[in-house]
Amino acid sequence: MGEIAKLGYIGVESPAYEEWRTWAPDVLGCMIGPDGEDGAVRVKIDEADYRLSIHPGEDHKLAYVGWEVLSHRDLEAAMERLSRAGAKPEVADKAVAQARGVDQLVTFTDPFGQPYELFCYQESGYRDWNPPRPHAGFVTGDMGLGHVVFAVPDARAAVDFHIEAMGFLTSDIVTLREPLGEMWFLRANPRHHSVAFLEVPNSLGLQHVYVESKSLDDVGYSYYDVLGGDECPDLFMNLGRHVGDQVISYYVHSPAGFFIEYGWGGLEIDDLERRSPHNINLRKGKRPELWGHKFRFQPNETVRPYQP
Ligand SMILES: [Fe+2]
Repeated sequence: MGEIAKLGYIGVESPAYEEWRTWAPDVLGCMIGPDGEDGAVRVKIDEADYRLSIHPGEDHKLAYVGWEVLSHRDLEAAMERLSRAGAKPEVADKAVAQARGVDQLVTFTDPFGQPYELFCYQESGYRDWNPPRPHAGFVTGDMGLGHVVFAVPDARAAVDFHIEAMGFLTSDIVTLREPLGEMWFLRANPRHHSVAFLEVPNSLGLQHVYVESKSLDDVGYSYYDVLGGDECPDLFMNLGRHVGDQVISYYVHSPAGFFIEYGWGGLEIDDLERRSPHNINLRKGKRPELWGHKFRFQPNETVRPYQP
């Protein structure tokens, strides 16, 4: 694998950023971390001061995706790999690194111009884990925040970039139900995927972010007792289980225009078992769901028409 160890944090802009102060603890059972310098509301799910940062802004949009490396040496090596692939990484000003709460920050973009970052040493310890209701905690640690899924105009270009320029490995390709096409899943650590791509013609943006509870009960409580189960008008997919990563989860429209997948039980892949970065051991599946995940249309304001 490459130097990038895990998905660290995600930042978005939203006019409804203040709603997260109550929505996130109510729905996810998480904490709120220290506000950002611009008043951003920050979601805290483990020892890191934040994992999601919802900044004030006129539109719902992706602001940055932070990929974590574990040392300054790894940061340099990751920059070299990006440069060799033509990605032009740049060391960010100290003030920007400070605003993110990290020691070192490097910025670059994916093949479609989406804002990516590398960082090392995020601040932590703002408060001990003290959730607003009884909660078993979230699966993070060596596997990071969870995963992020993008709609992209060209999945193969996205996949190639994440393998060649970022050192990720492929885990699965799944053929989704009509009208959706193929979806590609890539990993940077044992978590089945840290990033996935859904090819949508002429579209680009943040589709969903996954967070994983240590307990299925936290997911069930949130789904039935907080949101009201299958009747909840904000659901994008109801409770179900994926074939690929085996997660039991539901998807809900968040106040910032993208979807949150809240789940439990994600597959961890033994790297010795499926090492190939070039699809030799890739599993290709045609059945995306074991059960449930009934789809309902929801607008997604962070996926927009793509203009090259
Ligand atoms: Fe997901």
